[in-house]
Amino acid sequence: MYDDAIDKILITEDEIRDKIGEMAKQISADYDGREIRMVGVLKGAFMVISDLARALSVPLSIDFMSVASYGSGTSTSGVVRILKDLDRDVAGQHVLVVEDVIDSGLTLNWLLRNLRARQPASIEVAALLRKPSAAQVEVPVKYVGFDLENVFVVGYGLDYAEQYRNLPFIGTLKPGIAPGT
Ligand code: IMP
Ligand code: MG
Repeated sequence: MYDDAIDKILITEDEIRDKIGEMAKQISADYDGREIRMVGVLKGAFMVISDLARALSVPLSIDFMSVASYGSGTSTSGVVRILKDLDRDVAGQHVLVVEDVIDSGLTLNWLLRNLRARQPASIEVAALLRKPSAAQVEVPVKYVGFDLENVFVVGYGLDYAEQYRNLPFIGTLKPGIAPGT
């Protein structure tokens, strides 16, 4: 399907599944006796939240937020606008924000400040991917799947121009597909 576009597979479907299983085991142990309000950040997190939710063994409910970061092209500015807010209030809830990737951290930093103001009982973050070398702000992320080099990746929820989200693995694009590559 996208064979002509993918350069390298960095994380295979099996590796993702195993890692989500490990993360779920840890999260289920940490939240034993508590109910989780999972908050997926659309659109990128739709796949990870769906697999993570199925692997968890504690009661949970799922809500989504969609945010857009003002910025040029692939870089974010940290100025965020809410496209879709949560359906339900999170006051007194144990919120677990689920992210696909933490790049500069600016979006998540803004989101955490926004959600903390709603007075949840607790708030933690689970992210499948993190690019430590790209971090412009330190954000406390309790559960991380994989640390990546500062490269642009697609698949498993992550897009380039809304394409490639359905790939079951995480990979890089061949040079020439995205501008400036
Ligand atoms: P941040 O504010 O720089 O941390 O931006 C995070 C958001 O940028 C993610 O939620 C993604 O939507 C997008 N993003 C960052 N890196 C990538 C990537 O490698 N591929 C696709 N989207 C990315
Ligand atoms: Mg995202």
